[in-house]
Amino acid sequence: MAGPPRFPDLSPVELVGRIERAPKAELHVHIEGTLEPELAFAIGRRNDIALPYESPGAMRQAYAFSDLQSFLDIYYAAAAVLRTEEDFFEMAWAYLQKAQADNVVRAEIFFDPQTHTARGVAFETVVQGLGRALERARRELGISAALIMCFLRHLSEREAFETLEQAEPFGDAFLGVGLDSGERGNPPEKFRGVFARCRRLGLHVVAHAGEEGPPASIIGALDALGAERIDHGVRCLEDPGVVTRLVRERIPLTVCPLSNVKLRVFERLADHSLPRLLAAGLRASVHSDDPAYFSGYVNHNLVESCTALRLTTSDAYTLLRNSLESSFLEPSEIARHVERLNGVFGT
Ligand code: ADE
Ligand code: ZN
Repeated sequence: MAGPPRFPDLSPVELVGRIERAPKAELHVHIEGTLEPELAFAIGRRNDIALPYESPGAMRQAYAFSDLQSFLDIYYAAAAVLRTEEDFFEMAWAYLQKAQADNVVRAEIFFDPQTHTARGVAFETVVQGLGRALERARRELGISAALIMCFLRHLSEREAFETLEQAEPFGDAFLGVGLDSGERGNPPEKFRGVFARCRRLGLHVVAHAGEEGPPASIIGALDALGAERIDHGVRCLEDPGVVTRLVRERIPLTVCPLSNVKLRVFERLADHSLPRLLAAGLRASVHSDDPAYFSGYVNHNLVESCTALRLTTSDAYTLLRNSLESSFLEPSEIARHVERLNGVFGT
């Protein structure tokens, strides 16, 4: 089988231009993680909900994280300002405009309904607000966007089942389910039953694994949940057997380099394992995770990674192509976007 095309290396400036112009898919972004402090304050004022910061600037200054949990504490607290359908619409619409500026042609967006229903917000309010923004993005921005409903792994499987029951009347509103929140002490196996039910309902399945958790967590996501993509997965390199399996089964890894540095999975971007993932033949692509907290949307993640890790033009092309090919779009749609990507890279 022919491998991906190889390219002579472009100058750094030229490569940045191609990355920015390239059509790409954003497959790992949490919509609650796109809530910029200015918008959080505006929504909080409207809903009479105070944030524990003096100003958006002070809020941003608090974004110094020691690990995943220290981030999640702030992230869930900020989400408390979201109350009405309009709030969810505004947050998603603001994100989708940024995505368009990055030439995102497909966005498969995570949302965490349990964060909101636990505060008394109706499931319907969340999906209708988000859904309206996605529909507007399709019409006005030419972005194809879909939702992936995540279960919070620090909660119980019973609560995940209850959420799925609430979601079922809105089944057309999302294309798949995921698993996020604190990985330590919450292995995929805890959610075996609810993911089996999701698969029977015809939903796509993805899961965060191998971010802070060990390689065994990746195997659990594949075997216990039936995950079709692994979110993060960067710790797979600690177990050659896991790498072999991921390569053999062509399982996509949605890697978020700036997130991994902010959450101390890697000390510096220059230490990130992305080049080793690519060299091992893993199907990695680059995404933004929680861009309002980790100082960069998808293009910034790609450009910073290429620079810090001295990635080649062929590596950048592979990452972009993997993003499109790892999406849940129809093959004919993927082929159309890959053709445009090839045009940008001059193949
Ligand atoms: N929720 C939002 N961002 C997350 C991350 N990086 N890992 C797990 N859960 C998350
Ligand atoms: Zn994530």
